[in-house]
Amino acid sequence: MTFTRLPEGRGGPSADAPTLSIEVDGRAVEARAGESVAVAMLAAGVLRFRTAPASGAPRAPFCMMGACYECLVEIDGRRQQACMTPVAAGLRVVTGQGLPALRRADTAVPPRP
Ligand code: FES
Repeated sequence: MTFTRLPEGRGGPSADAPTLSIEVDGRAVEARAGESVAVAMLAAGVLRFRTAPASGAPRAPFCMMGACYECLVEIDGRRQQACMTPVAAGLRVVTGQGLPALRRADTAVPPRP
């Protein structure tokens, strides 16, 4: 599966939008000013933003409007929604850091009275 940016005039960046570079897991990714980190990552072919804490299944953006939190990544050291974070030159993104690992319950379910 591949994603491409919308064309100019249909929601995509203008043709004269400056390009800049962000870093995703140590790799340089080209972005356009005004787009979100999620858009830049998807356009660059990044399809796993994090893994599900319980199953380990790959997760990627779903809503692209800040509602589902499937796009959580670490951006400049802080856990953030990639779809709600505008790109800026030099941003450093680390995937797989969206949610902390779940801890196993270390107490048994209390007996019913
Ligand atoms: S894709 Fe749903 S919150 Fe970012």
